[in-house]
Order: sequence, then structure tokens, then C-alpha cells
Amino acid sequence: MYQIVEKKTISENTKMMKIKAPLIAKKAKPGQFIILRIDEKGERIPLTIADQDKKKGTITIIFLEIGRTTKKLGSLNTGDTIKNVAGPLGIPSDIKKYGNVICIGGGVGIAPLYPIIKALKEKNNYIISILGAKNKKLLILEKEIKKISDELHITTDDGSKGHHGFVSDILQQILNKKQKKIDLVMAIGPVIMMKVISNITKKHGIKTLVSLNPIMIDGTGMCGGCRVIINGKTKFACVDGPEFDGHQVDYDNLILRNQRFIQQEKEACKHHNITTTT
Ligand SMILES: Cc1cc2nc3c(=O)[nH]c(=O)nc-3n(C[C@H](O)[C@H](O)[C@H](O)COP(=O)(O)OP(=O)(O)OC[C@H]3O[C@@H](n4cnc5c(N)ncnc54)[C@H](O)[C@@H]3O)c2cc1C
Ligand code: FES
Repeated sequence: MYQIVEKKTISENTKMMKIKAPLIAKKAKPGQFIILRIDEKGERIPLTIADQDKKKGTITIIFLEIGRTTKKLGSLNTGDTIKNVAGPLGIPSDIKKYGNVICIGGGVGIAPLYPIIKALKEKNNYIISILGAKNKKLLILEKEIKKISDELHITTDDGSKGHHGFVSDILQQILNKKQKKIDLVMAIGPVIMMKVISNITKKHGIKTLVSLNPIMIDGTGMCGGCRVIINGKTKFACVDGPEFDGHQVDYDNLILRNQRFIQQEKEACKHHNITTTT
């Protein structure tokens, strides 16, 4: 059993939890994730390790309450327990000195981006962060990311904060200005966002890494549920990723695969009387 030692609401429908998991906290690296199961009958869901405290033996998760399991998780409180937490899973991010790095986070994708920015900054990269959300109420980790970025740009779809539009608009503006040579673009967010970003950076010949979010079940490379097509070859995002070269991802296939269970997800929410945010 894994105890929740802290819980906070950090924006509309987004919760932060610190969970006592000393062995995972000791080993986890930026870019890795856990798979948890709330109780005996619960489904397994992947969530990124957004932070960790080796001394206290805790890991931090930040999640959007989108469907049945994340809503149920969000209803738990400090002191409650989670049945299983498996991890750290996935290949850690390749953290090194690149030079000038643009880090782009969309929606709850900002959470998994945070530990990567922190680690890239520790390696003395110049960090330009671009954070986007549907509206200012859904924007997370702005203060924390501002502290570790050399430049910060905010965008909202409805214009309630920062640039009225998408993160890709700001990326395009920065690249058009050609003030700095950009050595890496790191993007985490909705699949369509990562697709648009990768199309832009491909034209400029800039190395781009994206973190993919296919439906995962075991997280250990056995079920094949998370398969994605990279450069025409099948890869399992849980063991070969979740980060991949953004220019090699078959995004349309991923979008299609992620829509496979929409009907069942809706039925699960209806059955359990849950209002969804989708
Ligand atoms: C490596 C990885 C890291 C992730 N990190 C985070 C994170 O830090 N914060 C966060 O809010 N979300 C994260 N997600 C997405 C998160 O797993 C889903 O939001 C969650 O599983 C939804 O479950 P649900 O029952 O609440 O919603 P449902 O109504 O069942 O599903 C809503 C949507 O979530 C996705 N989803 C559902 N089940 C799974 C599953 N087993 N595996 C992957 N996606 C699923 C689908 O796109 C689906 O349409 C991550 C996904 C992956 C693959
Ligand atoms: S989740 Fe089963 S192979 Fe990746």
C-alpha cells in the first residue's frame, strides 16, 4: 500500500499528490513514469513522476481529472492509500548540455515537462519555456517553471493570459526572428500539439523530442497496447519511450489508437455517475 502524504488542487480539475514510495523516489529520473492501480478492482493508469524527494521517500504526481480513474484518484485525500504503484518505468530523458533549448508544454503536459526543464537547467542549458493552456485557470506550474527558465512565454486558447493562441505561434515567432541558434526543442502535450510543433521544427532542421501518451496497460513491454509507429517501425512507448524523435512519429496512427475506447470510457463514467472534462 502506498500512502498519500500531501494533496493539493493546483488548477481547475488538476490535482497534485505526494505519495510515499521510497524505492521509486530513490531511482526515478526525469522522463519516467509510474503505473498505479487505486484498489483491487481498479484499472492501471500511467502518470509521470513530476518530482521526487529522495530524503522523504516521496514522489509527486500531477494529473488532470479526465475520466473514471483520475476522478476517483482525485477524490482520495492525505492519509488514504493506493493499492499498487509500479515504477519507475520508461527510458529516462537524455539530459545533457545541448545549448539553447525550447521546452514546450501544453495542458497537463506541463507536469511531465517540469522535471525535464529542471534537469536541463542544471546542465547549464539556456531554457526558453513556452507554456500553453485552454485558459488561465488551467495553466499549471507557471511560477515553478519561471524560476528555472531564462525566458518564459504563456499562451491561452481564449486569450485570458499571455498570447491569445497556441504555443506553436510563439515557437514560429522565435524561429522566424533567428536571434538564437536553437539546439533542441522538447515538447509534451496533446498529440496534435506535438504534431504541429514537429512539422515546424522539421522545416528548420531542429532536433525535436516528444513524449508520447498512448494507452498503456502493463507498462513493461508485454501487452503491446502502447505500440506506436516510429520511422515506419513498431515500438512500445512504455519500454522504448515514452520520448521519441518528433520527426519520426506517426501522429495520425497515435490519434486513431487513442480513440479506440472512447465509447467504453463514456459508459464507465455514466455507469459510475461521473461528469467528465472531455
Ligand atoms: C507515459 C504516460 C504518462 C502520463 N502522464 C500523465 C500525467 O502526468 N498527468 C496526467 O494527467 N495524465 C498523464 N497521462 C495520461 C493518463 O494516463 C490518462 O489521463 C488516464 O489514464 C485517464 O484515465 P481515466 O480513467 O481517468 O480516463 P478515461 O475516461 O478512461 O480516459 C480518458 C483518456 O485518457 C487516456 N487513457 C485512458 N486510459 C489510459 C491508459 N491506461 N493509458 C494511457 N492513457 C489512457 C485516453 O486518451 C483516453 O481517451 C500519461 C499517459 C502516459 C502514457
Ligand atoms: S503498456 Fe503493454 S507493452 Fe507497453
